[in-house]
Amino acid sequence: MRVAEAFRAAYGAAPQTVWHAPGRVNLIGEHTDYNDGFVLPFAVPWGVTAAVTPREDKTIRLLSLQSSGEPVTITAHEESTGWTRYVVGVLNALGDRVPGADIAIDGDIPPGAGLSSSAAIEVSVASALNDLHDLGMTPMEIALLGQKAENGFVGVPSGILDQAASALCEEGHALFLDCRSLASRKIPLDLASHGLSILIIDTQVHHEHANGEYAKRRAECESAARKLGVPALRDVTDLAAALERLQGDERKRTMHIVTENHRVEALIGLLRAGAVTEIGALLNASHLSLRDQYEVSSPELDVAVEAAVRGGARGARMTGGGFGGSAIALVADDRLESVQESVTSAYAERGFKAPRFLPATPARGAHRVA
Ligand code: GLA
Repeated sequence: MRVAEAFRAAYGAAPQTVWHAPGRVNLIGEHTDYNDGFVLPFAVPWGVTAAVTPREDKTIRLLSLQSSGEPVTITAHEESTGWTRYVVGVLNALGDRVPGADIAIDGDIPPGAGLSSSAAIEVSVASALNDLHDLGMTPMEIALLGQKAENGFVGVPSGILDQAASALCEEGHALFLDCRSLASRKIPLDLASHGLSILIIDTQVHHEHANGEYAKRRAECESAARKLGVPALRDVTDLAAALERLQGDERKRTMHIVTENHRVEALIGLLRAGAVTEIGALLNASHLSLRDQYEVSSPELDVAVEAAVRGGARGARMTGGGFGGSAIALVADDRLESVQESVTSAYAERGFKAPRFLPATPARGAHRVA
């Protein structure tokens, strides 16, 4: 294994363990996680592999096969920047239980595609340290630790979606997660037997204002919940009455969150009934709601979704935080080519950078590989 060889070359001995954690796409349930709502992600076949050996001193030596040069040496818990933050954040969150570590990581998640490479780093490293130090953490506790690293150390006020998907997903399944109770259920997602695939359309664009807008959406939702006198927007049961009491952006955000939670449940109902081909309409509705009510789409995402549907996709939507990143499209196998052609030519017409297409099959969550 490449990462184990790089580890040995850098640190002079084989790693004590190697863990893999995947990236994710979210099938539906967008921006609902921090509103105590429902999400339905699945793990993608790409991820981060972390080779790790514990250290007794408070030193972290870090090597990434995606950055050139010598390992970076950091005193555990000190400030850091770039990708190393996700690792130091995890050690920081683990506190005294884990003094330091020698770590090498290798990743194959397309960079900037919005497929949660940061969660994959956090979950792979946390899983390896949990294993090495016999910490007895469950996959959900590992996910929560990753989120703590992201919120507290990296400073992104994200929900639990990405880390939970990376830690808990199972091959061939999507993961239904109630972000309040943290109860989860694996939902079989057998697209191939219906002659369908999920195509990831990577816009290759990431808009700078994404982080600021994310925090703003979160604050708007919290403010709307306060005005409605409920703990979170998940608790809104009478949407019409709630909308009467809100105005402007808070009204729109509430509309999205409440309807999106229902779409997650409806989509699971269709999957249970074996009506996989019918989920496309819910994907389309989710996209329109994210575009018009939640206002987190981008021209590149909208063009990808519209052109995919025009090219014959059963449905499509942006996935993840928005403002760039990727869209997903549900496509019958005999339409894959026409969908890609349609999106590619729509991008060319508008002078956008060419999109990248990736086939997504639901993959396995974090697991030990050596
Ligand atoms: C980002 C965040 C997640 C989630 C999504 C939107 O990916 O990291 O927690 O909020 O956006 O659904």
